Amino acid sequence: KILILDFGSQVTQLIARRVREAHVYCEVHPCDVSSDWVREFAADGKLRGVILSGSHASVYEVDDRAPDAVFELGLPVLGICYGMQTMATQLGGKVEGSHHREFGYAEVRAHGETSLLKGIEDFATDEGNSMLKVWMSHGDKVTQLPPGFEVMCSTPSCPIAGMADEARRYYAVQFHPEVTHSVQGQAMLDRFVRDICGAAPDWIMGDYIEEAVAKIREQVGDEEVILGLSGGVDSSVAAALIHRAIGDQLTCVFVDHGLLRLNEGDMVMEMFAGKLHAKVVRVDAADLFLGELAGVSEPEQKRKIIGRLFVDVFKAEASKLKAANAGSKGATFLAQGTIYPDVIESGGAKSKKAVTIKSHHNVGGLPEQLGLKLLEPLRDLFKDEVRELGVALGLPRNMVYRHPFPGPGLGVRILGEVKKEYADLLRRADAIFNEELYNFVDAASGKNWYELTSQAFTVFLPVKSVGVMGDGRTYDYVVALRAVQTSDFMTADWAELPYALLKKVSGRIINEVRGINRVTYDVSTKPPATIEWE
Ligand code: XMP
Repeated sequence: KILILDFGSQVTQLIARRVREAHVYCEVHPCDVSSDWVREFAADGKLRGVILSGSHASVYEVDDRAPDAVFELGLPVLGICYGMQTMATQLGGKVEGSHHREFGYAEVRAHGETSLLKGIEDFATDEGNSMLKVWMSHGDKVTQLPPGFEVMCSTPSCPIAGMADEARRYYAVQFHPEVTHSVQGQAMLDRFVRDICGAAPDWIMGDYIEEAVAKIREQVGDEEVILGLSGGVDSSVAAALIHRAIGDQLTCVFVDHGLLRLNEGDMVMEMFAGKLHAKVVRVDAADLFLGELAGVSEPEQKRKIIGRLFVDVFKAEASKLKAANAGSKGATFLAQGTIYPDVIESGGAKSKKAVTIKSHHNVGGLPEQLGLKLLEPLRDLFKDEVRELGVALGLPRNMVYRHPFPGPGLGVRILGEVKKEYADLLRRADAIFNEELYNFVDAASGKNWYELTSQAFTVFLPVKSVGVMGDGRTYDYVVALRAVQTSDFMTADWAELPYALLKKVSGRIINEVRGINRVTYDVSTKPPATIEWE
């Protein structure tokens, strides 16, 4: 196993993710654990190496240092950014503030042949020096090597951008190998954990289940947990994982607000109640939601109503469950499918010291209002890891690899006022679009168009236009198809769907969904448009 000591950088969890990608088991712990704790952690003989993370702070602002035991175990150590600086000062070198702040892309030149960088390069200079394309973010830098160290790499403004003491197997880099902008970053971390530390690459997602199950059992004990199941990937995977850990101590509450996709409610019930035998309460709140939404067409107001009702319904259900279990304390934990990007988004990962746990944006404020403790077993994972975990837990691939769906559901995809009639038409049209995206396979890649798009859906436009059908005139609604390709959902391109696919979808929608007589395709990029219409 590898120990990652967290000095509070935003990207520490990325180091863990890269180590997991190298199939090596790792644990992240705060940098201020004691030396005794480190020795105890190593006592089982399985610890193979230590990684010191970066920090958001400078060595001058904080006095965080690695526990001395890290340098007494005789194990390899890798320092990254602040981790390099603290390694330098702790082992007798010097760090100074720099006038020149390096932030962003940099090219570093490798010196000599260190075990960490040997054979790893992005390109070579005419003189035959290996060059690496990396991502830097630092103000301070090491200006004097500690005894025993040599320069491993440099940039013009940072002569010691990396240092190594091969005898003791200590390595440090000023740049961030854990971010994807550092092109050879994964290769460097693979090299460190597998070759230098000699950690066995035998960790798989299935092992994560066992670890997570043990942690959940320890945290929950014999208490009870409620979870708001939405049908989305994150809450579904969280539910399956927690159910694996504590079975009937978990109750899932599934609020059907009447704005879900076609058959979504039944599918969720079939999977969780039917197949997994989890306790799921389905609350049919469609009338309540649609009633409150009647006459409201302003998008923000619609969102507020849906958010407020969701919290109300969930709270009411939680107290009902409590009342039904007279004698027991009822649920004391609220479980959420918060994943690592949500943690970063809500500012929870900025510093190891700021461990105030922010709640997930979809149900913000709920735990405080309900007086519940939070259980968030997916907090350390990235989206693709959550999906892999879902598959390992036995959830169907089509559920786990589903496109994202907004919390307020079709409420944002019906422009203007939300009506049941509109939602029913939209659901049917959208199901056809999705079905055909699955059916159409791109010959070049062998993938279907559902896989080739990041998000694809149908939007209901509350305008009517004239059409002809058979001998008659129609005066019906319009839908827009939206399909985008994006990696981060911050920017997006419209997908160049094959004409044959668009033709099939529009033909089917107009023929099969009476009430819609016109289909359009949205060819706007984000920005300036957004992915959803609202
Ligand atoms: P926009 O429309 O802003 O959407 O380009 C970016 C991504 O966010 C999703 N989205 C939401 N997801 N709750 C969510 O969980 C919401 O309220 C919400 N609103 C938008 C949207 O589907 C797209 O993937």
